[in-house]
Amino acid sequence: MDWGMKNRLSRIFNQSNGKAVMLAIDHGYFQGPTTGLRNPRETISPLLHYCDSLFVTRGILRNCINPNTNTPIFLRVSGGPSVLGELSNEDITTSMKEALRLNAVGVGISIFVGEKNEDRTISNLGRLVNEAEDFGMPVLAITAVGKEMERDARYLGLACRIAAEIGAHIVKTYYCAEDFEKVVEGCPVPIVIAGGKKIPELDALHMSYNAISKGAAGVDMGRNIFQSENPVAMIQAIRAVVHENYTANEAFELFNRLKNMKDDTHAIEKITH
Ligand code: 5RP
Repeated sequence: MDWGMKNRLSRIFNQSNGKAVMLAIDHGYFQGPTTGLRNPRETISPLLHYCDSLFVTRGILRNCINPNTNTPIFLRVSGGPSVLGELSNEDITTSMKEALRLNAVGVGISIFVGEKNEDRTISNLGRLVNEAEDFGMPVLAITAVGKEMERDARYLGLACRIAAEIGAHIVKTYYCAEDFEKVVEGCPVPIVIAGGKKIPELDALHMSYNAISKGAAGVDMGRNIFQSENPVAMIQAIRAVVHENYTANEAFELFNRLKNMKDDTHAIEKITH
């Protein structure tokens, strides 16, 4: 592996434990100004300090993020259809040159296994990896599975394995309660989980804890952080699970403590250093 690729991966995954807290704020690329993301700058700025990397589109990056940030940027480079259309009809929307210009640490693309355009989205991934390898750019494959398919270990495992076989360096998938460890086992590259729809904070912490216990390398989470009643407390609770071996209940206590603090600076320092 070349130096550039190694260096970027080392900025995505914490060097002491190999884990990552990625903050996903890319939903607008097909959903528009969805709940919690009407003003992305306001949503992102208090959270930026707490994520290991931020997953966004180039438009939000250029318009809403201060270029003096030290937070590594992971760029979503696929898109096309809106929520009103056929979601699997995606293509590569942002070039490798642009990702390099924006100093990205990685690029992310969706594949739609079991959907109408499954084959094209998988070959999009292959093309992206071919180009990314030339520039030492890690590729995250975001695995969406067909609407009719259960989000179970069989289908998630299928999608993750395909993504890794095509060359993704990191795979994002959903957590499944049963046999998630088999999904991880079957995928030779690190897996991070998406959070999915907003659920109660304690449930999201349990999901994250279980995913990490069963071998996930971290989270690339959006709604369960930015739609939380207290996003800043929630991202720190998620960090505590991913990086500090907190159980879900311990992290929930931390969430409640931070939520109830007027000035949470001291607790923040404790959990991030
Ligand atoms: C949308 C995405 C999101 O980044 C992903 O779903 C993570 O966000 P959430 O935790 O809200 O599910 O890839 O296609």
